[in-house]
Amino acid sequence: MTKKPVIAIDGFSSTGKSSISKIIAKKLGLIHMDTGALYRGVTYFALQHCLNDNNLIDIPELIASLPKIQLEFQNVDGELKLFLNGKNIDREIRFPQVSDYVSQVAKEAEVRQFLLATQRDIAKKGGIIMDGRDIGTVVLPDADYKFFMTASQDERAKRRFLELELSGEKTDIETVKANLILRDKIDSEREVSPLKKADDAILIDNTDINKEETIDLILSYIKKF
Ligand code: DC
Repeated sequence: MTKKPVIAIDGFSSTGKSSISKIIAKKLGLIHMDTGALYRGVTYFALQHCLNDNNLIDIPELIASLPKIQLEFQNVDGELKLFLNGKNIDREIRFPQVSDYVSQVAKEAEVRQFLLATQRDIAKKGGIIMDGRDIGTVVLPDADYKFFMTASQDERAKRRFLELELSGEKTDIETVKANLILRDKIDSEREVSPLKKADDAILIDNTDINKEETIDLILSYIKKF
């Protein structure tokens, strides 16, 4: 293969998909796109503009407002950062409130359809590693390589807890695990594009291996180009 490859990496949250994809992209000279950021961007917009009287996201209002949302990735110092209607929202999309609501937003067919074109457009030129939940199954079914990442819920909860602790957030491991189980359930059981391994994806279970070992394992499958 001489053309730069298109690589799809799907899997459960807190398996290290995004940080691992970012490093692999750097090593191979590919662009990295974290598609979860797009769902987070829509959720951030909804939290600002589409709340009902109970301070919950009004889904029909959000769907009617989709044409007002312009999301694009811009290259800032070699990394793709997400801009919402011209404003860099890379930090805001990691707010806990966004994390709490994003699965609800991501299960809406209209939202998924809305974000499909953005994702496919970026992949057209090749040379990209895209991570998400439905990249290998729906967004890029013809990707050159597909991986599906998993790890035990206990291990993922531990990783997420340490990450939150580092960022100064006060929480406990039980709460983190409960949130993770709920997200797994919503993501895997939704009707549209549920989180699932594509038949032709390579399963990567990193419960017992660290980040560097996971990267090496994935790289071992990718032929020189
Ligand atoms: O990877 P993440 O935690 O930033 O993803 C945020 C949410 O978006 C998560 O609930 C799953 C959803 N998502 C999705 O449904 N499809 C994708 N391709 C990427 C993320």
